[in-house]
Amino acid sequence: MKQALCAVISVLLVSQCVALTPYYLKQHKNNAHVFTQLVKVPSRPQSGLDLCPTCIQFGDNALNALLNIILNSGVVGSCSALCSLLEQETGSKALGVVCTLFCDVEGIKEFIKIINRADLDPIYYCQLLRACPINDNGDAKITSLTVDPPSGPQGTFNIRLVWATNNGTGTGQVILQVETQDGLPVEGAFLNEAKLAGNYELNIQLKAQPDPGCDPSQGPCEKWEPGTYPVQVAVCNGECGSKHPHSKVFDQGSTNFTITPEGMRWRRFT
Ligand SMILES: *[C@@H]1O[C@H](CO)[C@@H](O)[C@H](O)[C@H]1NC(C)=O
Ligand SMILES: *[C@@H]1O[C@H](CO)[C@@H](O)[C@H](O)[C@H]1NC(C)=O
Repeated sequence: MKQALCAVISVLLVSQCVALTPYYLKQHKNNAHVFTQLVKVPSRPQSGLDLCPTCIQFGDNALNALLNIILNSGVVGSCSALCSLLEQETGSKALGVVCTLFCDVEGIKEFIKIINRADLDPIYYCQLLRACPINDNGDAKITSLTVDPPSGPQGTFNIRLVWATNNGTGTGQVILQVETQDGLPVEGAFLNEAKLAGNYELNIQLKAQPDPGCDPSQGPCEKWEPGTYPVQVAVCNGECGSKHPHSKVFDQGSTNFTITPEGMRWRRFT
């Protein structure tokens, strides 16, 4: 059952790595300018299909809409009614299909109960659906946090985070926040699947240059002015900042990098 479900979901919501809506942006919905300048560098090829990341991705995309539907539609009597409303609301057939698959396993009453309990926390939601593992005896310590290059003109900066765990970790999250000169939030949150004891690393490429796709009519665009940019990271059990069970900040770290002015010397002589 699990295998078949997973295969279907993976085909519908295929993705190499799961980037989540950062907690910060969820709390500031009016500031919903989503930055796409933090990109995870895939570590090694995914072996087989995994139900947990596909469930998390579904939760990240669908929980907000599901909560609104439950709130606004009163009694929703069946999985097909709820999931077709989700499909209409989001315009995504795939989300409707995945919704039906998960809902049919739980039954409509239990499925709605789980959505209400999880609120907007996709990790807790997928733990309640038994799609993601739980480990409440986990631990993690950051052993290294570096930026390469530490200083340079606008361009790509590679952020490398290494952490160690003795007990292993449950399903969790790594968040990364860059404080910009103009105060716009640049933040990314990445699923950290349950791990055995060992050392792990996360490599993030930060495109610290103006995003040509940024539409100023949708909100301010980050300019990446020269200056020092502090970088903060946290490794968490569950969602960072969540008050739900199985959630805890394991460790936090910080570093910085500097954007230097570019081409001033040349401009002066032309
Ligand atoms: C590691 O696990 C053991 C039991 O399995 C527990 O007693 C201990 O507190 C855990 N360590 C941490 C740092 O949570
Ligand atoms: C930037 O990081 C370096 C090395 O980690 C540290 O010495 C320096 O104080 C930091 N600067 C700022 C402005 O945070």
